[in-house]
Amino acid sequence: MLRARMSAPLPQPRGPVSDAVISTLAQSQPHSHLAGGRPGDPITHADPLGGDLQLALYVCYELHYRGFSGVDDDWEWDPQLLAFRGVLEERFLNYLRGHTGGGTDVTGALDALSTEPVDDQPNSLSHYLAEHGTWAQLREFFVHRSLYHLKEADPHAWAIPRLVDGAKAAFVAVEFDEFGGGRGDRMHSTLFAALLRAADLDATYLGYIDCVPPEALATVNFMSLCGLHRGLRGALVGLFAAAEITTAPSAKRIVAALDRLDGPQPCRHFYTEHIEADAVHEQVLRHDVVGELLRQEPELAADVIFGIEASEWLEARLADHVLGHWRRGVSSLLPVRTV
Ligand SMILES: [Fe+2]
Ligand SMILES: [Fe+2]
Repeated sequence: MLRARMSAPLPQPRGPVSDAVISTLAQSQPHSHLAGGRPGDPITHADPLGGDLQLALYVCYELHYRGFSGVDDDWEWDPQLLAFRGVLEERFLNYLRGHTGGGTDVTGALDALSTEPVDDQPNSLSHYLAEHGTWAQLREFFVHRSLYHLKEADPHAWAIPRLVDGAKAAFVAVEFDEFGGGRGDRMHSTLFAALLRAADLDATYLGYIDCVPPEALATVNFMSLCGLHRGLRGALVGLFAAAEITTAPSAKRIVAALDRLDGPQPCRHFYTEHIEADAVHEQVLRHDVVGELLRQEPELAADVIFGIEASEWLEARLADHVLGHWRRGVSSLLPVRTV
């Protein structure tokens, strides 16, 4: 039986902001001198979606999941580190708000996600992989996804104490499936680790943090951002609903790619499991979670839309990055380690 390593080593910095966070955490005792947001600080010049800021944010958030090996657990609630993280979050959030349309038509936004366009999908990773992907590209796709799938459904679990009555009960029912229905060997994160091993990849938690681009970090950071702020509970439910609605059709296309490439069974199993499970989860999320939440708190409609739109926008950005590299015949991963 392979034991999952509890926490990973700190990653390599990608610029002055992530270096400030990582070198601070490497100190033996929480005693932060971090500050951010003043004119001239590197943080005010860092690209909100660039590798430096996104890695700094990812490291700050990871303290609330498994932490890092050799890093004191007390850093999780260090006031200055939290204040620094707040400046990073504000920049990220403002950027996302500036790149999403808004509105309050939640049903329309959810319907739009489940409408499969009949024309070609030039910017869809799963369409590309189903039709043209090579085994090397499919393995790269697994690497990009490994950061999230190895902690699958953890960011969403923070919604549970923030929901009530039927919305909470339905949300927990979906999470119960994501966490294996009481069976460790059926947890979706465990299934993804099996997928990575079958693809001859590293199944270590955060094993690929140094080689995924900022576009991949940002998709997970948005989940953590919404999970850790009660005020963004509507966005958290929205992004979860968007994921559950879009996963079943995209999982079908990944299975098609695996069939075409004669991929290993554990890789197929992860995606076939999601075709079945997410068809049910979609309905539960739409009606019993989102529907019930908006009956209880109708003023959250704009936040639900924001969660849907921002997560879809970040996913599209990741797809653009990956497909742009593949069409040029080069790897979409950072040149840190060989896959
Ligand atoms: Fe899942
Ligand atoms: Fe699901």
